[in-house]
Amino acid sequence: MPAPFIIAIDGYSSCGKSTLAREVARELGFTYVDSGAMYRAATFYFLEKNIDLEDSKAIGEALDEMLIELESGEGDTLVRLNGRDISEAIRQMPVSNLVSKVSAIPQVRRKMVGLQRKIGEMGNIVMDGRDIGTAVFPEATLKIFMTAHPRIRARRRYDELLARGQEVSLEEVYRNLIKRDYEDTTRLQNPLVKADDAWELDNSHMTRREQLAWVLEKVNAIRNGSTI
Ligand code: DC
Repeated sequence: MPAPFIIAIDGYSSCGKSTLAREVARELGFTYVDSGAMYRAATFYFLEKNIDLEDSKAIGEALDEMLIELESGEGDTLVRLNGRDISEAIRQMPVSNLVSKVSAIPQVRRKMVGLQRKIGEMGNIVMDGRDIGTAVFPEATLKIFMTAHPRIRARRRYDELLARGQEVSLEEVYRNLIKRDYEDTTRLQNPLVKADDAWELDNSHMTRREQLAWVLEKVNAIRNGSTI
């Protein structure tokens, strides 16, 4: 059996990683894996169990109890935690506000990276996140690092929240985004950085269709053995 074709898509929050990853996966018949949803699921469980984030024993026990299942389809990933559908809850503010802190805990990262590598052994995937090309799959077949201007990302996120009926100001969204960029890029373990061999995709002024074509061109070049 040939080695799985692994596409790693990393980048800042609200860059459109999951939209692109899902479209690439659909086009190629690969499985889309939303690694952020896994950190969100852990955060949800810690909140529910009222886990003290300084208590490594309690964290370890909680991590051992958790069975996270992901199912990707057309919309947001369906996430089950110990059999319970928590897809909606992990996108709400309590989880969004705490997830950066939880994902900075080394124990949590070790567990998630292990689970993500297991998923990668099962077949061709597109996985998006922050450390997929650097830490989870340093040997990924294709690595993409997405960026976009912060003001443009804030506007996209704001439109998305409005569409979901959440009331926020554009400035608030912008500030939250800058804070998350800072936390993601400065944490000690597996910070968000561009892998040396990743292709940078700045999609500030690109349509979804253009981004998809950009990725597919790289995939075709790899499959044809030509240099990209
Ligand atoms: O992609 P997202 O916004 O749903 O991710 C939620 C959080 O999880 C985000 O604050 C960063 C963290 N994360 C991470 O540390 N490593 C990953 N591979 C994916 C997400």
